[in-house]
Amino acid sequence: MSAETRRVLVTGSAGFIGYHLCKELIGAGFEVVGFDAMTDYYDVNLKRRRHQILLQNPAFRATEARLEDVDALGEAFADARPDIVVHLAAQAGVRYSIENPRSYVETNILGTFNLLECAKEATLEHLLMASTSSVYGANPDMPFVEGHPTDAPLTLYAATKKSNENMAHAYAHLWDLPVTMFRFFTVYGPYGRPDLALFRFAKAALEGRPIDVYNHGKMTRDFTYISDLVKAVRLLIDAAPQPVEERKATIEADTLSAVGPHRVVNIGNGQQTQLMDFITELERSLGMEIEKNFMDMQMGDVPGTWANSDLLENLTGYRPNTPISEGIDRFVEWYLDYYNINRDC
Ligand SMILES: NC(=O)c1ccc[n+]([C@@H]2O[C@H](COP(=O)([O-])OP(=O)(O)OC[C@H]3O[C@@H](n4cnc5c(N)ncnc54)[C@H](O)[C@@H]3O)[C@@H](O)[C@H]2O)c1
Repeated sequence: MSAETRRVLVTGSAGFIGYHLCKELIGAGFEVVGFDAMTDYYDVNLKRRRHQILLQNPAFRATEARLEDVDALGEAFADARPDIVVHLAAQAGVRYSIENPRSYVETNILGTFNLLECAKEATLEHLLMASTSSVYGANPDMPFVEGHPTDAPLTLYAATKKSNENMAHAYAHLWDLPVTMFRFFTVYGPYGRPDLALFRFAKAALEGRPIDVYNHGKMTRDFTYISDLVKAVRLLIDAAPQPVEERKATIEADTLSAVGPHRVVNIGNGQQTQLMDFITELERSLGMEIEKNFMDMQMGDVPGTWANSDLLENLTGYRPNTPISEGIDRFVEWYLDYYNINRDC
């Protein structure tokens, strides 16, 4: 390993996005240390499998512990000696935050506080943390621009993520900690999360069950393909917000704070897709019609999301661009292979 190899600590490394990001970073020559508690929010075997794949590369090692465990987190920082931290570990999921709100406060608020305390001591080049499009709440003004109001969350999940943005802002101001907050928009792809729509729809369809389609299908989402998203994150690593006194050029549409090195960036595909068109693409990819149960809107859900990705492009020269037809095909190919489903018989 070269003397210049940069070290990255990735929390949530056994998660959907964490796994793909670690692969991307290893491929780009970083030394990567993962940190994940393997929580049982969804199938732990899938998380273990992701880590097993990463561990095949000597540039990756991992600790299994909770963010709430201050000692374990401190040891992980001491062991990793990171230049960069990407904080993805979270209790994710919009709907589950209505059933089990406490887990969001424990992981997202207390866990993120512990992480910020470690980050403050670690002399980091850059801390990057996951927020979500859910912070835009029921904002009718589309596409969502980072400067739009985000002070009216519809769920505790969104409220904890907005709190994370604010907590990180305070640390950036007080300790000159360079922080980028990503607002991710509905991410999908191979090794995806079993609680998200694409996985649930494919599983139900292949098991011959109907799918539940909320708000009678009248929903839109900005679906972001995982490879595009992790490429954007990798590029943003090298776009750390500068301390106030060192700033020279300004970037158009920037959200850089006036009082600390803190910035918020949307990462979305920049396209609004109708839920029914997304389902039609899945039907095409699976080669079957899917039976649908049309239902009312679920509590806490939003009718639409759509990212303005101008700031991401201004910072990195890159804009996500995988069409949903291609992304869904890659997901279906993975799903059939991973679960040994032979469609020929
Ligand atoms: N996938 C999306 O569409 C999406 C959209 C917006 C935001 N996000 C955010 O992106 C991040 C990654 O999401 P994901 O889709 O990969 O979710 P994921 O659930 O697959 O990954 C999260 C990982 O964090 C770990 N974790 C949970 N609680 C922990 C704790 N207390 N201590 C240590 N580890 C813990 C889990 O075991 C899991 O492996 C999250 O912060 C999520 O809120 C995701």
